[in-house]
Amino acid sequence: MAKAAENKRNLPQVGLDRGELDQIISRYIGKPGSILGILEDAQKSNQHKYLTQDSLEYIAKRANIPLSRIYNIITFYAFFNLKPQGKHSIIVCRGTACHTRGSKNLLDFLINLFGFKEDDFSQDGKLYLTTKDNKFTIKTVACFGQCALAPVVEIDGNIYSRMTTQKLQKIIKSIALRGNKK
Ligand code: FES
Repeated sequence: MAKAAENKRNLPQVGLDRGELDQIISRYIGKPGSILGILEDAQKSNQHKYLTQDSLEYIAKRANIPLSRIYNIITFYAFFNLKPQGKHSIIVCRGTACHTRGSKNLLDFLINLFGFKEDDFSQDGKLYLTTKDNKFTIKTVACFGQCALAPVVEIDGNIYSRMTTQKLQKIIKSIALRGNKK
């Protein structure tokens, strides 16, 4: 008992409600594939839809999983985020099929549209940009596995095939208009 109390004292501070995180962990613990479920729900419960360093350390300790393994999982799955997300996400596929069919043009269009500068470009060679007003995050992915529909773009979880800059502009405009009406 004293040991459990001591362990709890040693747990790192988390960037989200610790009680909520405890609930998530107890929902999954002991089940097959539990770590994926824990990470997914922890990300969803974060206001900015990302996994903070603190929460990952906390999960590692509580679920008794090495932190390095957790990072391996997060970096393997494109849907996990280690940085705060904009309200809307736009993910451009940069795989070969999509590149051949113009995904670089789509990306350049978005970079110009949102006025990103070269200095904004990210870490680890991966593109990861969020507008200053936190409305949009632009990311790239290696392949959505939908190469026959290239070029593919995912916007707020919806997959769009054979994307063009005109279609992209229209979708972004309608998202912005919806936001203004709220
Ligand atoms: S290369 Fe874009 S979906 Fe596969």
